[in-house]
Amino acid sequence: MANVVIIGTQWGDEGKGKIVDLLTQYADCIVRFQGGNNAGHTLVVDGKQFIFHLIPSGILYEKKKCYIGNGVVIDPAVLIGEMQKLEANGLPVTPERLMLSANAHLIMPYHKLLDGCSEAALKAGKKIGTTGRGIGPCYGDKILRCGIKLGDLLDDALFREKLQANIEEKNFLFTKKFGADPVAFDAIYSEFQKHLELLAPYIGNVSVELDRARKGGRHILFEGAQGTQLDIDHGTYPFVTSSNTVAGNACIGSGFGPAHIDAVVGILKAYTTRVGEGPFPSELFDATGDALQQKGGEFGATTGRKRRCGWLDAVVANDAVRLNGVTGFAITKLDVLSGQPTLKIATAYEEGGERLTAMPCNIRRTERLKPIYEEMPGWSEEIRHAKTPDDLPAKARDYVKRIEEITETPAMILSVGPGREETMLIKNPFEK
Ligand code: GDP
Ligand code: IMO
Ligand code: MG
Repeated sequence: MANVVIIGTQWGDEGKGKIVDLLTQYADCIVRFQGGNNAGHTLVVDGKQFIFHLIPSGILYEKKKCYIGNGVVIDPAVLIGEMQKLEANGLPVTPERLMLSANAHLIMPYHKLLDGCSEAALKAGKKIGTTGRGIGPCYGDKILRCGIKLGDLLDDALFREKLQANIEEKNFLFTKKFGADPVAFDAIYSEFQKHLELLAPYIGNVSVELDRARKGGRHILFEGAQGTQLDIDHGTYPFVTSSNTVAGNACIGSGFGPAHIDAVVGILKAYTTRVGEGPFPSELFDATGDALQQKGGEFGATTGRKRRCGWLDAVVANDAVRLNGVTGFAITKLDVLSGQPTLKIATAYEEGGERLTAMPCNIRRTERLKPIYEEMPGWSEEIRHAKTPDDLPAKARDYVKRIEEITETPAMILSVGPGREETMLIKNPFEK
């Protein structure tokens, strides 16, 4: 029995969806524990691409059970849309295959509107570049103790009362602060009655079920969203998402005891990308950055925005190892580096005459960081055919080895293409 957490080590889009899909064959249960449909996790199976925003990426395996934990924020319309799409592909998502935590908070229509109004009100340079999905306002209400939980829908009087109170407060903001139109109770109430009709059979106690699964010897895979540098506490605040993205939240966001986690796989893209605003010390603004963006197909899976690209940042990787307790890396998109004559890895930063080996806490300092690079020769061969590390050019193996040395963390998985089969499993995290 082993329980494994997968997290992003950078600014998201490291290839978590692909690796979760790959490792699902060794798991019985797959759990999302934070974030919402700001996530976009891509899987390519038999040449067919699937993008999941809310449903765990393990859903394509028919015999596995998926869970959406209490730490996730759920936009019911998006969830239902994803379920219907899967059904249209011949994969009906029944309550035997998916359970939703009654404690998960709901993204309400006014959260999405507030997300848009707040971003629009920020001056240039201060904008976060959110996905506009209502994530921040929803988590905000959760912390302020006025949020509406999925389970609240099952108690009509409670739901009405909470909805009424929220609408009064939000309409004050819309009309008095943002000069926007108010929202109407009746329209939202009836929309959510329809959602309830569809989702009621899926609502349950995820913590109790996971405990039962664990005691029954089942293997559990926890699927993180976003990445370590987008963590609300440990990331480049305020240019972050509104949840904890680090591995510790796998337990909080699903109601699972920390003593039962056996391994933490950090997904590390072989270079770095970021969508939205915020510091990015190893960002490239030249033809090399454009080449990585194009060869890597670096467009946001949720918003379609072009991803900013840069060299691998080992300071970020080391931060991730420390903050998540990473036991092994899955290094993805190595194939995208083919053809680069020289590769650079940022091993430290310089700022104000100081040499830094961790991301500083002060955002102003973060914006001034100058990466200190070490260089390595690249390889010219295409490597998507590689089935074992021995099939890789020596220079690609050297690059992986150097990452392992700098981070003192082994590479457990190497990925050389988007497809399920374009992967080398060096050490299975489910095997103790
Ligand atoms: P996630 O948010 O971490 O799940 O990552 P995304 O799905 O947003 O972005 C990763 C993108 O890279 C997707 O389009 C994947 O299909 C693709 N991908 C994943 N691993 C590899 C790889 O090893 N090589 C290449 N070329 N593409 C990959
Ligand atoms: P996955 O799971 C990359 C970024 C947004 C923005 C910031 C805040 O696919 O890796 P939010 O809408 O969460 O309030 O936006 O976080 N962001 C992501 N960037 N991948 C993601 O998810 C992201 N989810 C949010 O671009 O900068
Ligand atoms: Mg993504």
